[in-house]
Amino acid sequence: MNRKLLATVTLVSWLVLLTHMALAGHAAQARLPNVTILATGGTIAGTGATSMTTVGYAVATVGVQALIDAVPELKSIATVRGEQVFQIASENMTCEHWLKLGRRVNELLAQGDVDGIVITHGTDTLEETAYFLNLVVKSDKPVVLVGAMRPSTAMSADGPMNLFNAVTLAGSREAVGQGVLVCMNDQINGARDVTKTNTSTLDTFRSPEFGVLGSMQAGKPVFYRKSTHRHTTQSEFDIRDVKELPRVGIVYAYADYGRVTTDAFVGAGVKGIVHAGVGNGSISMDARPALVEARAKGIVVVRSSRVGGGAVARNGEVNDDALDFVVADDLNPQKARILLALALTRTTDTREIQRMFYQY
Ligand code: SIN
Repeated sequence: MNRKLLATVTLVSWLVLLTHMALAGHAAQARLPNVTILATGGTIAGTGATSMTTVGYAVATVGVQALIDAVPELKSIATVRGEQVFQIASENMTCEHWLKLGRRVNELLAQGDVDGIVITHGTDTLEETAYFLNLVVKSDKPVVLVGAMRPSTAMSADGPMNLFNAVTLAGSREAVGQGVLVCMNDQINGARDVTKTNTSTLDTFRSPEFGVLGSMQAGKPVFYRKSTHRHTTQSEFDIRDVKELPRVGIVYAYADYGRVTTDAFVGAGVKGIVHAGVGNGSISMDARPALVEARAKGIVVVRSSRVGGGAVARNGEVNDDALDFVVADDLNPQKARILLALALTRTTDTREIQRMFYQY
């Protein structure tokens, strides 16, 4: 082959290759993301007697397909598949439910034909499920929890728009690698920081210390910051071989609380206690001996705070080194309980557990 012919053949081959790449890129862009909706119940699936009923309605009555059918607009943003994993009010969520859900999420995300997952959930314990999944999901693909404050039958029900936003987010490139997210009221919060702050308003989910990660704007997710803590693919927690989570109780401090709850938890055989202390995690003189005795029996004691904001300082109000206690950093008591339970699946070494509380 002479040089001129060779150059022409090479040029044509490149043009063919580039055309193929451009077409493939276009096809990938044009393809709608595959989003699986795992329904667990809650108010988003609730029904009331009338359109004015916003309290005293029945929770977890509407099935996943009806939730999807109520938002036909979903068809334009994703190829959606629904799966009813549970049908419960979220106050009935248990560690067994979490393990089952976590395993199902990991199974689905390992499939090439699943781009993201939305979990519909009651709002009462939604932040706990979100944080648990943030620690055990083994994928960068988006996982978004969503609920509603008004039942599906209420006028101006918030569920449909929340679901639309959650599916958009779960199918987006922007949400990849952001950890487990909570999307409600047009806002995107990170699982670690978010908490329910109001019994009834639509803007109940907030990240009081650090604010939202982003928001839904004109049907698109816009992120302004990232979680700095380890989650999902960087997490060391693995539930594949965990049959049940070690039991951890929360001792809630208040004026004159004494040792009754700690003794009850020890008697019930817990492996860990989260102390929801007053102020900077303080423990009263009357409550302290029971916690010291619990630690001497091998129970891991974590000091958190009932205040709702701010970190508990190690060796601040309590000499944690001397008592071999762990501090929860700024995790609220219900999330500290989840991290402690997962930590106890790996170790009982309090130095290691303290490291985990600073990293997750
Ligand atoms: C629940 O958490 O299941 C009931 C309350 C709600 O979803 O808002």
